[in-house]
Amino acid sequence: MEAEDARAPLDVEALRVALEPMRLGHPLIYLPVVGSTNTHAAGLARQGAPDGTLVITDEQPEGRGRIGRTWRSLPRGQVLLSLVLRPRFAPHLLVMVGALAVIDAVEAAAGTRAAIKWPNDVLVGGRKVSGILIETATDERGEPFAIVGIGLNVNGTLRADAELADLATTLADALGHPVEREAVVVRLVTAFDALYGRLQAGGELGSREVWERWRARLSTLGTRVRIAQRERVVEGIAEGVDVDGSLLVRGADGLVTPVTWGDVS
Ligand code: BTN
Repeated sequence: MEAEDARAPLDVEALRVALEPMRLGHPLIYLPVVGSTNTHAAGLARQGAPDGTLVITDEQPEGRGRIGRTWRSLPRGQVLLSLVLRPRFAPHLLVMVGALAVIDAVEAAAGTRAAIKWPNDVLVGGRKVSGILIETATDERGEPFAIVGIGLNVNGTLRADAELADLATTLADALGHPVEREAVVVRLVTAFDALYGRLQAGGELGSREVWERWRARLSTLGTRVRIAQRERVVEGIAEGVDVDGSLLVRGADGLVTPVTWGDVS
């Protein structure tokens, strides 16, 4: 793969070749622009798209985030993809697999250390570079499926963005040079594929290992957190995580509250 021109579209043929040996990534559906890869992938999944279908784009004007948020588009600067999955294991493990795969891609393809902010934001230098949106539903035959949507800020800059500059960054901003998006995609899908295959094979060992690896990369543990949910806020020290991915928060009253979702600050 050639070094990337930061404004060039993805080299889809190079992706096809590199992903050929993978279980995931087939069929590979590239759309130069699509409202949301998650919405598109969910439509395909409802009609029976197979496990491993990959939808990837260069521009996503209606990108969706967790908790009803929007996901900002940096045209031809991000990795924006969704996988159609038909997991035979508990969906909470996908949160961990997604975050670990992004960490692996950032560290291997960009050569910089990354951490996970519970549950699955990936941070570089304390700023968010990636978010993951996981949605589950049932297809027309009544079969369950999951969509794992991953957005990763690779090239372009957020430095002049008044709203995001303190909170988010791109790999290019963090490193001072552009990064080849194809290399990031290939590493990300490869890492996801390995963990997913392990979990699909079943057994307690695989899920325990995924949980331990995810827990080891959580920068949230041991810190003071404020988790906003719709009707309530949980505040305290993030003491640990349960095997189901819940964050265990010890409040000022000494009691530990398990939190399954929310926005951490
Ligand atoms: C978050 O941090 O709130 C999750 C953001 C997830 C964004 C990705 S980009 C690809 C996929 N398609 C979407 O519409 N959203 C996800």
